Amino acid sequence: MLAYLNGSFLPRSAATISVDDRGFIFGDGVYEVWRAVRGRLFETDRHIARLVHGLGELRIAVPGVIESTQLAEIADRLLSQSGLTQGEATFYVEVTRGVAPRTHQFPANAPAPTVYMTVNRFTPADELRARGAAAITIPDIRWMRCDIKSIQLLPNVLGKQAAVERGAVDSLMIRDGMVTEGSHANFMGVIDGVIRTHPTDNLILPGITREVVLEIARGLGIPVVEEPIAEREIERLDEAFLTGTTTDVMPIVRVNDRPIKSGAPGPITGRLVTEFRAYLDAACGAAHATS
Ligand code: PDD
Repeated sequence: MLAYLNGSFLPRSAATISVDDRGFIFGDGVYEVWRAVRGRLFETDRHIARLVHGLGELRIAVPGVIESTQLAEIADRLLSQSGLTQGEATFYVEVTRGVAPRTHQFPANAPAPTVYMTVNRFTPADELRARGAAAITIPDIRWMRCDIKSIQLLPNVLGKQAAVERGAVDSLMIRDGMVTEGSHANFMGVIDGVIRTHPTDNLILPGITREVVLEIARGLGIPVVEEPIAEREIERLDEAFLTGTTTDVMPIVRVNDRPIKSGAPGPITGRLVTEFRAYLDAACGAAHATS
C-alpha cells in the first residue's frame, strides 16, 4: 500500500516519523477515516469539516492539503496506485502537532504539523449484518471531549477488545446510566417506531454515518429523537443498530447475551441497511460519473 507523508508519496513500509513526533509521544493529533467505493470518497466535505473542527480545538494550524480538491487528488493517487479503484476501501488521514522536544505545553515555535494519509482494502461485514451482531456494555471511561476525533484511543481499544473476547462486535459505552456510543460507531435504538440516539454533544463523536442515516430516516418519515438511551432501557428496545464508516448500519440483536426483541434484525433497521447502502453506492457512483 502507498502512503502520503508530509508531501511525499512512498510505500507504507518506508513511511516513518520521528520519535519526537507529538502524535507518538502525547497522542497530540486527530484523524479521519473515509469510506471509498470504486475509488470515490464518501462525504468528503463532512469529514474535512470534522477534521478542521478537531484541529481548531487543539489549536493545530490546518495544513493546506486538508482541503477538498487537494485531499481528493491525494486520495485518488493513493487508491489508484494501491490498486483500490474497484470495490471497497478506506482512506485514513492523520494530522499531529508535529515534531518538537518533549514538553507538555505546546512548543514555543509551532512545528509543521505531521500529515499522514493512507488507504486500505475494506470488506463490509455483510454476513454478520444479515444475522445481526451481539454487543456488550462497558463503562465509558473516556475524557469529556469525545467530539474531537483524537488519535488517543485507548478506552476504545480496550472496549473493542473486551467485546471481541466475548464474541461481540462492539462495546456500548455507558456514562451516568446512558449509552453514549460504541468503540468506533454510534448507537441507535428503536422504541415504538421512533429512532432514538445520543445527541451530538461533547460525549460522542458526531458520526458522519449517523448524520446521513438520520437524514435518510427523516426522509422516509421515520421519527427521530436525539436523546440518549438509558442502560436500563436496552432490554425494552424493539430494535438496535450501530452506524459508522466501517460499520455501515449494523443490526445489534443481543446485548450482554440477552436478545433484543426476537433476536433478529428489526424492520426499521433492515430498511436503513438497504437505504444506506443504496445511498453510499449512489453518492460514490455519482461522483465517479462527473469526474
Ligand atoms: N471511527 N464513534 C466513534 C468513537 C468513532 O471512532 C467513530 C468512527 C464513529 C462513527 O463515525 P463515522 O460515521 O463518521 O465513521 C463513532 C472510525 C471509523 C475509526 O476509528 O476507525
